[in-house]
Amino acid sequence: MAESFDIVIFGGTGDLTLRKLIPALYRAYREDQLLPETRIIASCRSQVDIDNYLETAALALQQHLAAEEFSVAIWEEFKQYLYPLMLDIATIDEHWHALRKLMDEDIDKVRVFYLAIPPAIFGMSCQNLAEVGLITPNSRLVVEKPLGYDATSADAINTEIADYFEEKNIYRIDHYLGKETVQNLMALRFTNLIFEQLWNAKSIDHVQISISETVGLEGRAGFYNDAGALRDMVQNHLLQLLCLVAMESPNKIDAKSIQAEKIKVLGALRPMRGEDVAKNTVRGQYVAGSYFGELVPGYLEELGSPNSHTETFVALRAYIDNWRWARVPFYLRTGKRMKARCAEIVIQFKEVPHRVYDESAGPLEPNRLVIRLQPEEIIQLTMMSKNLENMDVQLKPATLNLNFSDTYTKFRSDAYKRLILDAAAANTSLFIHRDEVASAWGWIDPIIEAWQNTKAGPNLYRAGTWGPDESDGLLAQDGHSWFNSGKVKTNSDY
Ligand code: BG6
Repeated sequence: MAESFDIVIFGGTGDLTLRKLIPALYRAYREDQLLPETRIIASCRSQVDIDNYLETAALALQQHLAAEEFSVAIWEEFKQYLYPLMLDIATIDEHWHALRKLMDEDIDKVRVFYLAIPPAIFGMSCQNLAEVGLITPNSRLVVEKPLGYDATSADAINTEIADYFEEKNIYRIDHYLGKETVQNLMALRFTNLIFEQLWNAKSIDHVQISISETVGLEGRAGFYNDAGALRDMVQNHLLQLLCLVAMESPNKIDAKSIQAEKIKVLGALRPMRGEDVAKNTVRGQYVAGSYFGELVPGYLEELGSPNSHTETFVALRAYIDNWRWARVPFYLRTGKRMKARCAEIVIQFKEVPHRVYDESAGPLEPNRLVIRLQPEEIIQLTMMSKNLENMDVQLKPATLNLNFSDTYTKFRSDAYKRLILDAAAANTSLFIHRDEVASAWGWIDPIIEAWQNTKAGPNLYRAGTWGPDESDGLLAQDGHSWFNSGKVKTNSDY
């Protein structure tokens, strides 16, 4: 458990704080993971915000926690940890000095400064922290995506914050890495010999990594329309998953070793430029459609504008140019308003080199390993077997099914809880190094540039489907098809 700490959340009344950070800290408290002297100092823009803060936080908890997690009794205790404090981030005044006074009550205590604010003011916030004298040797800075808009802007942000915090004290969050199921991916790969022997171009035909969502804009039109799915999901979450699937075994499970291996994978991604982008990527945008008979509006209607080429869906084919992965396609896909909420990795193995059974035994399917990360964690291995009911040899695929919800009946993963507590405990292994951010943008930027240079807009797809037909076409070019998880649930089911 982390020792007690002070966490200062800049942007204390913002969406991220109310939706994710306060619920995460409440869960930590409920599970006895917050020591009593811990303080959650939430910056509010005005006195009105302070007066309403506790009420707003209680409402947010009721909205974003599962019904059985919220209880008035626990809330009454937890709210003692909350310190709303008025602060204009841009202006050093008596409120900043009040913050200093509050924190100096224990100068040696761990300080976590969480910037839940737009990146454009990261630099200024750090400068003010320094000027007011709030940065101590025990201080850590936590920053969130979007870390920039492209390689240049990301570098500018990283350079600005590096003036005030050393790299070892900067915690860049990709919340996918905080998901227990994503960490299990590393455990699966690096503690089981049977997979490692086959984890390469000799045995693997292709890999699919797909994160589908059923939600639409969720009131984030301003941010999303400028970003689009490539920046919002692929540059970070999907590339991080790709790294975990493709990287070599780190020497140890520590930040330095893991980050070094991920950086090598990102550096080996084959660059895509101009013509290659058109060949290897598909953009999509949803139009009105339905979920279980209920109509939902299209992207442009939600946006309230008739014109936007912003992609709400991306499918692409990537290659990792190294010995292990030579010529193995990695298909990445993500989209909003898709048919089901699911994050899944599919490892499709090659066909057997020689068929020993007659054609009459039926077709052979190559082995497939499916690792579903959410909504539930399941690992499935499909293999061929004999149909035992038939005297004649009849072959059929059978599935080994490992469903973690059978084992962990009370398990509830909260990536933010995990990452905040890790930052407080100076455990950096699940955070992103500056060089990873730079490499990921370096690969993404030319794709965006090529898209911008074409007149064609995104391909349209109906809400409630698996994306535009062109996405199926991309895989069909290689004789493949998307593995779409059978179970259909919406975001609100979880
Ligand atoms: C965020 C994106 O990083 O991840 C959102 O900005 C997306 O657009 C979200 O909805 C998905 O996260 P999760 O944990 O719900 O899969």
